Amino acid sequence: MGEEFYSHARLYDLMFPGGGPVVDFYRDNAERQGGSVLELGCGTGNKLIPLAADGRPCVGLDFSSEMLAEAERKASERGVAVEWVRGDMREFELGRTFDFVFITANSLLHLHEASQLVSCFRAVRRHLAPGGRFVFDVFNPSMGMLAAADGVRRTRDALSFVDPDRGNVRVEVAEVYDAAAQVTRGTWYLSTDSEPDFVVAPLELRSIFPQELPLLLSLGGLRLVERFGDWSGRPFTANAQVQLCICESA
Ligand SMILES: C[S@@+](CC[C@H](N)C(=O)[O-])C[C@H]1O[C@@H](n2cnc3c(N)ncnc32)[C@H](O)[C@@H]1O
Repeated sequence: MGEEFYSHARLYDLMFPGGGPVVDFYRDNAERQGGSVLELGCGTGNKLIPLAADGRPCVGLDFSSEMLAEAERKASERGVAVEWVRGDMREFELGRTFDFVFITANSLLHLHEASQLVSCFRAVRRHLAPGGRFVFDVFNPSMGMLAAADGVRRTRDALSFVDPDRGNVRVEVAEVYDAAAQVTRGTWYLSTDSEPDFVVAPLELRSIFPQELPLLLSLGGLRLVERFGDWSGRPFTANAQVQLCICESA
């Protein structure tokens, strides 16, 4: 579940500043749906706080107390009300239903076993109000991407950032793909010139292949209504980078 990786919540926000078309997509969908919102794996609230700022009742659930503490700090700084819950998306009970449930930024891929994904989908199903929608995004595991996970440590220029406390931070990642488990096992290295490898943290993400995805959903009592391949709503095709899934109760 990446506990070590997500214990650096402030650095996470510097590395993945959020905003842009992803927020717009979830915002538009939450607005179309209306009513209450639940995000599972909400992290520091990059997607949820903007939805709550629109006046929607929002609950954010996450496993990491460090990510939740940062989310809480940012929401109160902006004067936005969100209920933050420490919990496990594999099995949770909040005692109420929601009109819009979402999981974004590959958070779902922290569940490696098929049984864990089904258990999560069942919990989502129990928390969906009548007519409610469940929307999530996961990457599309292309052969090229999996083959590139060759164990070599490489710099990710696009993720480099400036930490006000440390200066320029370089991000390097070494990944190998475990084809039996369908899991990409990565190690992330954060360095400055004066402080090499000040963070070394594992991060392991499962692949969900396009054909297994609707089957896993149906085992959880959910139905895939539509699958997009990008944030502008283009259909999902072989070359799409993302599987953006719109689901409802079966
Ligand atoms: C890639 S981050 C995404 C955070 C946020 N949704 C965003 O878009 O910035 C993944 C989040 O999932 C959380 N997570 C991982 N496994 C989880 C689990 N089993 N239950 C709840 N949260 C989990 C991590 O703690 C982390 O905050």
